Amino acid sequence: MSVQPIDTVGFRPAAPARLAKPASRWSQLFGRASRNIVQWWTADSFRHPHTSRTLLGVTYHTINDPQAVARVLRDNAANYRKPSLLRRLFPLAADGLFGVDGAEWRSQRRLMAPVFTPAAIQDFLPIFVGAAVETAEAWTAQVPRVIDVGAGAVHTSFEVISRALFSAEQGLDGDEAAGHVAALLAQSGKAGFLALLGLGRLDPSPTARAGRRAEAFLTARLAAFIAARQADPSPPADFMTRLLDALAADHPPKEAARLALANAVTFLIAGHETAANALAWTLYLLSEQPKVQTWAAAEAREALAGGGSPAEVLERLVYLRWVLQESLRLYPPAPRLDRQAAADDQLGDLGVKKGDYIGVWPWVLHRHEALWDNPDSFDPERFAPEARATLHRFQYIPFGAGPRICIGAQFATAEALLILTHWLARFEFAPVPGHRVEVTSDLTLRPKGGMPLRVSRRL
Ligand code: HEM
Repeated sequence: MSVQPIDTVGFRPAAPARLAKPASRWSQLFGRASRNIVQWWTADSFRHPHTSRTLLGVTYHTINDPQAVARVLRDNAANYRKPSLLRRLFPLAADGLFGVDGAEWRSQRRLMAPVFTPAAIQDFLPIFVGAAVETAEAWTAQVPRVIDVGAGAVHTSFEVISRALFSAEQGLDGDEAAGHVAALLAQSGKAGFLALLGLGRLDPSPTARAGRRAEAFLTARLAAFIAARQADPSPPADFMTRLLDALAADHPPKEAARLALANAVTFLIAGHETAANALAWTLYLLSEQPKVQTWAAAEAREALAGGGSPAEVLERLVYLRWVLQESLRLYPPAPRLDRQAAADDQLGDLGVKKGDYIGVWPWVLHRHEALWDNPDSFDPERFAPEARATLHRFQYIPFGAGPRICIGAQFATAEALLILTHWLARFEFAPVPGHRVEVTSDLTLRPKGGMPLRVSRRL
């Protein structure tokens, strides 16, 4: 199917208003800016190559120059480590792949890489399709009506991660887990004063209390799952068994269980929240641009009608890929990447001191005025091959970049594309009159209050 340019001018995707001057320190520590991190940006942040702020004696640089981003994430990556603060904000996952550094990171990454190679991902494709079709069938019985497709996406992506990595034995029901994961992210993303001082446990706020309950709940369930796996003489040959076997070779059983728990939490959260948000934002953009949706749906139907394996269906998708890429540009589900300098460094004209924090924010980088034409508009054709070739490799990084690039990037891309294909082939998605879509973010970027859309059968 050849792709015709579609005019998307005139639609301005939802985004928070930009501040005229930086949020006050009070707001950053206790107020609105501490609760919703995409709201603290000024209009100037989207124009300058870097901005710096010092708060409680800690300097935080945000960098938007792709060359500097390349240096931090790739060329001098050894100097830019996961911040020590991460351990305080997210202790449960701190010893998992996302949180560790140096030799420990290399060893864990080497261990897990084989589960996420393109060849290994082929085995997961039927799981993606199965979960997509189950949700579609539940919706078929209800439409036409308003459905929170955000909740549907969370449910579906949870089923995917649970079946693909844990053989659905993790002892957590998707909808129940989703609530706890959301509470945990809200608590961890709330970089409030007590959390910054490492005293998050004393925080009496409802968000912090809900976060602590979620942490206890997820720890108990996943620890029981791991103990059962360690005792199982013939466990399923999945990610978890592979991880436990490898950890058992180098660590005593208690330590292996602790590291396995950190990674179970890491993969459960990293693997389903982000993918769900990508789905919700993509459906929102398509609902607002019916021509783009019609085109993507026609491609989805044609791809499915061609028959064959899910891998063959994926190969037939061209336009939907651009739509997904543009959605990940406008709404990067992981809106921030944080690092801390181990030694002084120079990033172009920016001098970095040992201990300084560096923020690479896809949220800002992907909408930067010096890097993109009409950065806030929705235009999937930015990702047509000729246009894509003009982009700097480090100006578009929804999955990060360099050695710590998302291990699940190909998994997530195939998952999102197959789910969208099955949903768009069956349904039409339209905005709900009167509902205002709002962006909110703690550690991930998501639609505030879900994503209600009017869903009807596609004729
Ligand atoms: C659309 C979906 C996803 C997005 C946008 C996303 C984004 C990212 C980003 C930006 C990073 C780099 C963070 C940094 O450098 O600080 C990352 C790392 C990671 N992601 Fe994803 N991710 C997605 C899906 C997944 C999935 C499906 C999995 C697992 C099945 C996963 C597991 C991880 C892990 C374990 C890391 C840490 C890797 C390391 O440090 O070596 N992610 N992700």
